[in-house]
Amino acid sequence: MGFLITFEGPEGGGKTTLASDLKEHFIQLGIDALFVREPGGTAIGEQIRTILKDCKNRDMDCMTEALLFQAARSQICRSVISPALKDNRIVVLDRFRDSSVVYQGIARGLGKDMIEKLNEISTGGLLPDLTILLDLDPEVGISRIKNAADDRFDSEEIAFHKKVRDAYLGLMSEDTSGRWVKIDADRSRDKVRDDVFKIVDEKLKSAGLIEGVRLGKERF
Ligand code: TYD
Repeated sequence: MGFLITFEGPEGGGKTTLASDLKEHFIQLGIDALFVREPGGTAIGEQIRTILKDCKNRDMDCMTEALLFQAARSQICRSVISPALKDNRIVVLDRFRDSSVVYQGIARGLGKDMIEKLNEISTGGLLPDLTILLDLDPEVGISRIKNAADDRFDSEEIAFHKKVRDAYLGLMSEDTSGRWVKIDADRSRDKVRDDVFKIVDEKLKSAGLIEGVRLGKERF
C-alpha cells in the first residue's frame, strides 16, 4: 500500500533541497508522488510550525513542544498521508516521527519510550518504508544555515545539535527493520543527490512496489 520515504538528520544536512531534487526526479520518471514537510504540510500544521519555531517562544515547556509536534503530526497523518498511502501513492516526508524521538525524546530528555507512545497515537502506527539519514557534523551543518539566530531550533547550542546527531546514529544502529540508510551529507549536492536517487530507485524496485504504485497516467 503505497510507499513512505522520510528524510531525517541534524540541521543543515540539506533535507529540504534533496526532497525537492527527488521531486524533480520523480516527475521525470512520471511518478506521481506526494511531498510534504513536518511540522506543517496542512493549514493547521503550518500554524503550529510558526509557534514551534518562533524565538519569542523560548520559554516553551518541553512537553508543550512535544505535544505540539504530535498535534501537527496527527493532523497531517489523518488528513494527508494515510489517504495518499491508501491511494497507493509514494509519499516523501521532510522529517517525521524519528525527529520527535531524537529532538524531544533524547536531546530534550523526555524519554524515547514516551515519545514513541505519542508517535503511535499521532500516526496511527504508521512507520516509514525507507528513512534516509543525512548525516553530518553539526558544526558544518549549522555553519550552512543563514539566519540560524532567528529559529528556535537552529539557534540551540552546538552541544544540543551534537546530541541530535548521536541520537540519530544510535536510533539507526538499534533498529533492525532495515528501513534506515545513512548518507554522508558533508559532500557536494550532486554526490549526495546521486546517492539519494540510487537508494530510492533500488528500494522501490527491490520492495517490488513500483508496480503497485500509481505512476502518473501509466503503470509499469
Ligand atoms: P525546519 O526548518 O523544517 O528544519 P530542517 O530544515 O532542519 O528540517 O524546522 C523543523 C525543526 O523542528 C527542526 O529544527 C527539527 C525540529 N523538529 C523537532 O524537534 N521535532 C519533530 O518532531 C520535528 C518534526 C521537527
